[in-house]
Amino acid sequence: MKFFIDTANLNDIQEAQNLGVLDGVTTNPSLMAKEGITGRTNVMAHYAKICDIVDGDVSAEVIATDYEGIIREGEELADIHPRIVVKVPMIKDGVRALKYFSQQGIKTNCTLVFSAGQALLAAKAGATYVSPFIGRLDDVSTDGLQLIEQIVHIYDTYKFNTQVLAASIRHTMHLIKCAELGADVATCPLNVILGLLKHPLTDSGLQKFLADHQKAQEAANA
Ligand code: G3P
Repeated sequence: MKFFIDTANLNDIQEAQNLGVLDGVTTNPSLMAKEGITGRTNVMAHYAKICDIVDGDVSAEVIATDYEGIIREGEELADIHPRIVVKVPMIKDGVRALKYFSQQGIKTNCTLVFSAGQALLAAKAGATYVSPFIGRLDDVSTDGLQLIEQIVHIYDTYKFNTQVLAASIRHTMHLIKCAELGADVATCPLNVILGLLKHPLTDSGLQKFLADHQKAQEAANA
């Protein structure tokens, strides 16, 4: 399973990249706004900076919601760097745009997916990635992980090439469950990736190893 980081924060992206486990980045308009990135020139420049840091795909979301606007914006975004993936919302004009981009060889990520039917449409339209939002479904008392399982099953059954990119991941159990369910990609904030490191037995075990080593050294030097 690929690990993407879900942020527009350059320091977090660099830290995940330095860890050596990062396969790509996803952003959205809220994450860009959080970093104070506004205006077309700044937005384009910021995506270029992200592409300079990572080796993998970088999802850049369109703001337009009409077909022509999505195509225009998506083509501009795709021109920034060959690894830019145009992120398109799951709306009627978005589905048409996914088809157009797939015919042009432009990679896409269909976002704001909350049902198996939407995921089926995205795959039929040739999306490179589909982004089901786990955490936001959990927020409304619906099992987000069950949706991942359903989509993986449908895509496997019909051999769709669209990759399941589990999004809106809030904690490490979401991430681990996505791996068990066969999601192709999980995108999550840095704290969730780093959360995988944590185990009290690792910490206490390391303390013991270091203490024993120190004792042996002191005994040898005595
Ligand atoms: O990038 C889309 C998604 O990951 C958003 O997550 O936590 O805002 O629901 P969240």
